[in-house]
Amino acid sequence: MTVGNNGRSNNGRADDPGATGTGETLWHGRFEGGPAQALMAFTASLHFDAKLAAQDIRGSMAHVRGLARVGLLTEAESDAILAALEQTGNELADGNFVFVDRDEDIHTAIERRVTEIAGPAGAKLHTGRSRNDQVATAFRLWVKEALIATAGLVLDFQTVLVVKAKQSGDAYMPGYTHLQRAQPVPLAHHLAAHAWALGRDIDRMIDAVNRLDVSPLGAGALAGSSLPLDPAATAADLGFARPFANSLDVTSDRDFVAEALFVLALLGVHLSRLGEEFVLWSSQEFGFVTLDDGYATGSSMMPQKKNPDIAELTRGKSGRLIGNLTGLLVTLKGLPLAYNRDLQEDKEALFDSVEQINLALVAFGGMVESAQFNIETMAEAADDQASLATDLAEILVEQGLPFREAHAVVGGLFRDSLTRGVPLSDLVGGHPAFPDSVAFLFAPGAAVSRRVSPGGAGLGPMADQFGQLEAEMDRSGSRLRTLAAAAGL
Ligand code: ARG
Repeated sequence: MTVGNNGRSNNGRADDPGATGTGETLWHGRFEGGPAQALMAFTASLHFDAKLAAQDIRGSMAHVRGLARVGLLTEAESDAILAALEQTGNELADGNFVFVDRDEDIHTAIERRVTEIAGPAGAKLHTGRSRNDQVATAFRLWVKEALIATAGLVLDFQTVLVVKAKQSGDAYMPGYTHLQRAQPVPLAHHLAAHAWALGRDIDRMIDAVNRLDVSPLGAGALAGSSLPLDPAATAADLGFARPFANSLDVTSDRDFVAEALFVLALLGVHLSRLGEEFVLWSSQEFGFVTLDDGYATGSSMMPQKKNPDIAELTRGKSGRLIGNLTGLLVTLKGLPLAYNRDLQEDKEALFDSVEQINLALVAFGGMVESAQFNIETMAEAADDQASLATDLAEILVEQGLPFREAHAVVGGLFRDSLTRGVPLSDLVGGHPAFPDSVAFLFAPGAAVSRRVSPGGAGLGPMADQFGQLEAEMDRSGSRLRTLAAAAGL
């Protein structure tokens, strides 16, 4: 980006009628002097909203075609502006665009350049338009594309989990509540649990995209226009599902940003919880998983260390994602209708959340895909006889005992085994309430193979579960492809 002269000078091109020139602000007519350097330094947003360049060009082109359709531009004028927009878009994409001092945001910069290229026709680009509907249009286009792309990465991550789950076959591990060993569960069931949470994230992203699919173009600064604009036609041109119904609402509505930030924050929380498990599981204390060298880090001082930094950073970044959401909600909460400059604060938060979650999804996905589960260590931990207590009580229920009594009997036997140092299996074997067949339960993995209830942590119900999960994932994939096609992606 080239740097021009300081913000106070006024080197506008007064000899170029109708042009904003390189030195004039968009509002120069009403002002005697130029803006202070400090004002530009504080209010300019170009350094982050340059990301919206392609979306602004698309929005501007649709606006120009709309103006031509209703006779506000001649065909020659519209052709000249469209060609200038195309050239400007190419300069921006190729990195050849020369910014000047007064380009306070990407929208100003594009209009300035179009006017330089197209001459007097360029000065008609902003007819019936305000940056308020212009910015909202470009940002909705950007958020739509970003959510569809991120949802695709979540689907990839889900696929990694399902592949790992299926590869793990009938491997089992301790299931925990309160981080205390509770009952054995198949490793596949545990990994699938995380995949279900990610599926809900994809659902929420698709919902958010459908809700934000509204075109603000034609709302003007706040009130629409006395010119014969056709918002429905520009909405269709841009691939939006519908035009706005209320100009005050659509120019000041940032629900779509808050919603996107929430969806990403909750996704971050889901990844963080899995991250916490990988941190625990890769510790010497658990030893359930060994990370691939390519997805672990070492220590600058302790030669033996192998650290799960990806899992930790994913856990850490969830704080930042939540911060981005709460920051915007606080910004929004005191704003009267309609546009207020505060709304410019909506972009950095979302750009940041999208960038961070995308990095995390790819790195974490690679870490999980390349990790080795140590299924013997997991099985050994799960074969702890104490974890069979619930299944033992259920065997007594099968014998006709009320569950509360069965619970008390097994609880008493377990207490005995602790105080007397006798294995639970010996005490159970010698207890008259249990059938002889109880011995089978103490065989490795038997508890998991006996579990039958639908959706439960048994090998039988798990086959059904994977059928459902994969059907959901197929459905997500086709919904995302439909959305992407409708958005022209
Ligand atoms: N960069 C600004 C934004 O993102 C542009 C809008 C300025 N509009 C205005 N009425 N001052 O919100």
